Amino acid sequence: MIDIGKRFDKVAYRYDTPDKLERSKKIIEKLLEVLPVDKNWNVLDIGIGTGNTAVYLSPYVNQIVGTDLSEGMLSVLKEKTEKMGIKNIKTYKKDILKEDIPEKDFDLIFNAMTMHHIDNPEEAIKRFKDFLKEGGYIAIVDLYKEDGTFHSDNTDVKHFGFDFDEVKSWFDKEGLKTVFIENIYTIKKEREGKEKEYPVFMAIGRFDKNGGK
Ligand SMILES: C[S@@+](CC[C@H](N)C(=O)[O-])C[C@H]1O[C@@H](n2cnc3c(N)ncnc32)[C@H](O)[C@@H]1O
Repeated sequence: MIDIGKRFDKVAYRYDTPDKLERSKKIIEKLLEVLPVDKNWNVLDIGIGTGNTAVYLSPYVNQIVGTDLSEGMLSVLKEKTEKMGIKNIKTYKKDILKEDIPEKDFDLIFNAMTMHHIDNPEEAIKRFKDFLKEGGYIAIVDLYKEDGTFHSDNTDVKHFGFDFDEVKSWFDKEGLKTVFIENIYTIKKEREGKEKEYPVFMAIGRFDKNGGK
């Protein structure tokens, strides 16, 4: 069976489209509006892909460490950052759910359009916390609950989006305080000759040992 990394390898060079770039820019604009992002922050971007969101965030933080399972997506990212002269994005072709990286104590763990590919999001949040510093944030951007028509091929799709109660319960379980949860963008796709809308949410949890829920 061909794994998810290899499948993303196949689409890597045509993954970036104007609508994805526009979406990524909006996501980062919202993140900057909602969080006190700081030039000293170190960010872990899980499923960084071709770095669409990372390149917009990079001027505002110290460093972005990205992980991804796809060599192809990471190659596109490397070409992009070299062309743009971006020096503060570093990547690992690793599955952070199973493998370690040397860095930890991140200020922000960011995850865009990746959670729906992960089997057990609750377990994933628990694992992400190992890399988060106290007072740090986990930000998840993903599809709001959809009817399974978003992807034309659902082979690697483990969840047809999520609703807010679900996401809040992952945060609650790990003692993260939900500081923001809203639909922030709508992806439009043509389905059966009609335009269909797929809302995308951003959920942010803060890890505060004393604060909890
Ligand atoms: C839909 S793309 C999103 C890429 C990027 N975050 C964006 O918003 O453009 C999902 C990415 O997650 C990666 N991925 C899936 N499961 C992963 C995992 N367990 N660890 C790291 N990356 C993963 C895939 O290889 C792919 O590059």
